[in-house]
Amino acid sequence: MTFEPQVCAFACNWCGYSAADQAGAAKLEYPAGVKIVRLMCTGMMDPYYTLRAFERGFDGVLIIGCHIGTCHYGTGNVQARDEMARVARVLNALGLGQGRLLVDAASASEGPRFAKLANEFVERVRKLGPSPLREVIAQ
Ligand code: FES
Repeated sequence: MTFEPQVCAFACNWCGYSAADQAGAAKLEYPAGVKIVRLMCTGMMDPYYTLRAFERGFDGVLIIGCHIGTCHYGTGNVQARDEMARVARVLNALGLGQGRLLVDAASASEGPRFAKLANEFVERVRKLGPSPLREVIAQ
């Protein structure tokens, strides 16, 4: 059976989510396994959200906010980037690997960029294979 990565994509309301919306409106394709969760700002990302996504069986976590310098709340995207750098170390320690986590940006008008990031990230996770937590959860 072909492995179809399941990716939890956290997107900020003002840029990431709007970009995803624009990608959809333009009928740009990205894998159906990408499930989007809208946050007001990626600065709201708590390490718990990331770890919980893996616990729920997702194979990867993608966080898409505004470009640096354009966060609607000032520096939420910088906070998210720094926070997730720490979470990446935890993922390595857990054996999941930091490759399953990506923090990036797409402005509200960058639907094609959102689709590209989603497609590239899914391919990256596909190469990593299913999350090792899947087996643990199934027990
Ligand atoms: Fe988009 Fe803060 S509002 S990252």
